[in-house]
Amino acid sequence: MEQAREWIRTASRVVVLTGAGISAESGVPTFRGEQGLWKEHKPEELATPEAFTRDPRLVWEWYDWRRGLISKVAPNGGHRALVELECQKRYFTLVTQNVDGLHDLAGSGRILKLHGDIWRFRCLECRSDWPDRRVPLPKVPPHCRCGGMARPGVVWFGEPLPDGMWLEAEHAAREAEVLLVVGTSGVVYPAASLITLARASGAKVIEVNIEETPVSSEVHVSLRGPSGELLPKMVK
Ligand code: OAD
Repeated sequence: MEQAREWIRTASRVVVLTGAGISAESGVPTFRGEQGLWKEHKPEELATPEAFTRDPRLVWEWYDWRRGLISKVAPNGGHRALVELECQKRYFTLVTQNVDGLHDLAGSGRILKLHGDIWRFRCLECRSDWPDRRVPLPKVPPHCRCGGMARPGVVWFGEPLPDGMWLEAEHAAREAEVLLVVGTSGVVYPAASLITLARASGAKVIEVNIEETPVSSEVHVSLRGPSGELLPKMVK
């Protein structure tokens, strides 16, 4: 912890990569592990373009359920510590794989949401996208004003990441002095490749996770524990 604190304190370019684990203490289920969403549901039935084409109502019902769950929870000390860190640093980039919007609610300024945002919709016809926070949705699938069907504003397996965002994340990782990897199993690409990239470019890589991950052997320091407790200690 002392080493991590020192690296973070002295760096002016810090990049943070977060995953589902940072929201776990808020009450949002993670994807993998014993209680993970992928234990009960198959990603290919709910989180792929093919699944949506096959059964848009089923996919929307799942997203409507998750939106309902997320709408009841609040950011935790981990999210708030990253807001604090952003204020301290001259160059700070928050890259998240989460779609839950809790970083926004905590007050993070600029967030590269690699996997999109569950609170945004996109029209399949006219391609417009817009925010929608209704819970539950009055009708699924929801529709656009143009009459076209809407889809959740998230990235599904097999889809490219949002335009330009990946390049920005890559650039930030290359320039980083410190990369903080929080609450991610590090198995979903390309997000996980930021770790290798930052390390190869000379960044110190610090992991915060309650357990060992496939990434643990790649990082300089791996801190075991809940991010809601460890992150406030790291940035104070
Ligand atoms: P995972 O569910 O794969 O991993 C969550 C990680 O958080 C695990 O390594 C846990 O050990 C850790 N964790 C749990 N509670 C924690 C806590 N309180 N503090 C710190 N760590 C904790 O979630 P992601 O790695 O985010 O993509 O998953 C990546 C992507 O796979 C998601 O964005 C989603 C998913 O399928 C898509 O849907 C495209």
